[in-house]
Amino acid sequence: MREAAITAFFSTIATTIPTSLAIADLGCSCGPNTLFAVSEIISIVMDLYNAKKHELPEFQLFLNDLPENDFNTLFSYFLPRFQEKLSEQMKSKYGVRAALACFFNGVPGSFYGRLFVPRGLEENKGNISMARLSPPSVLRACYEQFQRDFSTFLEYRGQELVVGGCMVLTLLGQRNDDPSSEEYRQFWELLIIDLNEMVTEGLIEEEKLDSFNVPYYPPSPKEVHREVEKQGSFSIDCLEVFEVNRDVFEKDFDPNVVSEEASDKMVNA
Ligand SMILES: C[S@@+](CC[C@H](N)C(=O)[O-])C[C@H]1O[C@@H](n2cnc3c(N)ncnc32)[C@H](O)[C@@H]1O
Repeated sequence: MREAAITAFFSTIATTIPTSLAIADLGCSCGPNTLFAVSEIISIVMDLYNAKKHELPEFQLFLNDLPENDFNTLFSYFLPRFQEKLSEQMKSKYGVRAALACFFNGVPGSFYGRLFVPRGLEENKGNISMARLSPPSVLRACYEQFQRDFSTFLEYRGQELVVGGCMVLTLLGQRNDDPSSEEYRQFWELLIIDLNEMVTEGLIEEEKLDSFNVPYYPPSPKEVHREVEKQGSFSIDCLEVFEVNRDVFEKDFDPNVVSEEASDKMVNA
């Protein structure tokens, strides 16, 4: 069935042969079976590309399971053996012990929810998260993802708590309502500046930077309020905003004071 599905997929895209393929194994577990399906898919793709004399694509492999899955053993024990087997396979098919461009990603989380990047981030060129220059559609997509995630979270906790029970939530957020505000920018823009410089220096491809996104949304107190009220399972007794101390050596940190040197500290950390 896998072979038929992949062959059918390639026959529909005959004109633009992909140079990069993503494979996701949902519920991959950790054991000798884990990389079996992935290995078979790669082998089928190799044969298809080989038959058409195309250069092999690079593979992005996403291994998903619940967070309790033993990802450490998976990556430290099973992955090197899999890679060894893959290079033997390359040798038998291509006669060379060439390395295949295979990039592995662990995706811990339940497949009953979204596991990958939210829809609507395709336009976020030159950025990896919401930023000053991100188009409004990107800010909206991140906000909508936050609304969906947070209300689902509240809904389940609402079902689990006894009537009259309480919950204390600590979450990363920001004071300001504007998701592209100065306060928020400090966090990611430092990284974005470096990544864009790496593109200029030819160390990473612009296309890769454009397609990479961190689906992270720091809600403001007003947005948290709005979602809690809308969802309806909880009411808020108390909501406080405090600064995070990013400098582990700083002794006189006051969580109620907004630090102007936060960016410097983050760079040095
Ligand atoms: C029967 S095992 C299959 C393992 C492997 N895919 C195989 O074929 O041998 C099912 C796996 O699905 C995982 N799983 C169950 N519910 C899940 C969920 N909601 N999200 C992600 N993984 C889940 C389990 O942790 C388990 O590792």
